[in-house]
Amino acid sequence: MKNIAVFCSGYGSNLQAIINSVKKKKIKARIALVLSDRVDAYALVRARKEKIPVLYADPVDFKDRVSYDRFLILNLKKKKIDYVVLAGFMRLMSPYFIRCFRGRVLNIHPSLLPSFKGTQGIKDALSYGVKITGVTVHFVDEKLDHGPIIAQGALEIKATDTQTTLAERIHRLEHKLYPQAVRLLIENKLKIQGRKVKQK
Ligand code: GRF
Repeated sequence: MKNIAVFCSGYGSNLQAIINSVKKKKIKARIALVLSDRVDAYALVRARKEKIPVLYADPVDFKDRVSYDRFLILNLKKKKIDYVVLAGFMRLMSPYFIRCFRGRVLNIHPSLLPSFKGTQGIKDALSYGVKITGVTVHFVDEKLDHGPIIAQGALEIKATDTQTTLAERIHRLEHKLYPQAVRLLIENKLKIQGRKVKQK
């Protein structure tokens, strides 16, 4: 059985969606660790409720990004983690981290990449006036919101949408798309070829 670590900084609704898929045995893997860089992340509460081991690591306790990531890698190795799933983790991983886990780190982003990278994907799409936006699941590489794309889901922005109503629909789509992508990863059905991800 493969071991997953999920990294979160906040509410953890995507973590919950993955937990639910594991419980339903749609994802045949163990969530062996939930890590957060924020002590008040509700994701930690969700994990504890499910008796999943948690780790809180405060970036201010480390001298730089690489020392922080070295500490993470150490803990991932201890838990024999095979895959890392970023679910609302608000930190950029160092090239060192990516080298250690290349092709084994996923991220979800609330826009149709490469549009609207960064921390405000939903708000930026809305204020730009695009009519279609969505969700992207991708492998993580050294650049922000950049790695090869595994899956995307699109939705229409309505004239009446506010950031709240749009975010609700985006999150609903995320909760469907992310567990499906994690499942493909766990079942070893994804093959990276340059920028492209093929399904085996
Ligand atoms: C999601 O919108 C995800 O796309 C982005 O951060 C948000 C996390 O939400 N990377 P949650 O913590 O999973 O509820």
